[in-house]
Amino acid sequence: MKGFLVCIEGIDGAGKKTQSQLLYNKLKNAGRRASVYSYPDYKSVYGKIIKDYLDKNVSLNTMEFCLIVAANMAKDAKDVSIKIDNGEVVVMDRYFLSTIAYQTAGGLPYESVKKLEDAIALPKPSLIVYLDLDPEESMERKMSQKGSLDRHEGDMKYLNAVKKVYEQMYAENYTGAKWIKINGAMDREEISKRILEAVDLLH
Ligand SMILES: Nc1ncnc2c1ncn2[C@@H]1O[C@H](COP(=O)(O)OP(=O)(O)OP(=O)(O)O)[C@@H](O)[C@H]1O
Ligand SMILES: [Mg+2]
Repeated sequence: MKGFLVCIEGIDGAGKKTQSQLLYNKLKNAGRRASVYSYPDYKSVYGKIIKDYLDKNVSLNTMEFCLIVAANMAKDAKDVSIKIDNGEVVVMDRYFLSTIAYQTAGGLPYESVKKLEDAIALPKPSLIVYLDLDPEESMERKMSQKGSLDRHEGDMKYLNAVKKVYEQMYAENYTGAKWIKINGAMDREEISKRILEAVDLLH
C-alpha cells in the first residue's frame, strides 16, 4: 500500500498531540505502518534555542526564528520521504503550515514565508487536519496543562493572528492537499473518528 503524510495543525493547545497519538494508535491497530513526528523537535540541535526563545530567555528576530524552525523540519525531510516511499503513514504533529501561520502572525509577509517553504520543498501532505480552537480555550488548556504560559501561549492577540493565517490557508486550499477543519472543542474521540474517516478516504 502507498504511504502518505497527514498533518495535524492548529494553535497552541488545539489538541494536535492528542489527535496525532490517537491516529497513530488506530493506524497501528489496523495493521498499518506509521510514524509520528512532533515539532518543535526539542531533542534536535535546534531544540535548545527554540525552547530558550519560547521561554523568553533569548530574543531572536522573526526571520531568525523562522529559519531555525524550518531547519528543524528540513533535517527530517529525507527520512520522511523514505518512509512514505516504503508505504508508511507519516503523521505530523505540526508541520510547515505552523511555520507559515506563526511567522506570518509574527510579522513576516505571508507570501514570502510560503515561498521559503516552497524552496525548502519538504515532503507534501495528502491531508491537513486543522483543529480550530478559540484562543481563550487555548490559554485555559495550556494553563491547566503546564501551570505557566510561554511566549506564544500567553499572547491572545498573537494567537488570534495565527488563527487568521490558518483560516486563510484553509480558504485557499494551500498546497492543494485535502483540508478538513474540525472544532477542537469537541470530544476527543469524536474528533479522532472524523480524522480517521478522512484518512480512510485517502486510500
Ligand atoms: N478535545 C479535547 N477536549 C478537551 N481537552 C483536550 C482535547 N484535546 C486535548 N485536550 C487537552 O488539551 C491540552 C492540550 O492538548 P495537546 O497537548 O494535545 O495540544 P497541542 O495542540 O499539541 O498543544 P501545543 O500546541 O501546545 O503543543 C491537554 O491537556 C489535552 O489533554
Ligand atoms: Mg503539542
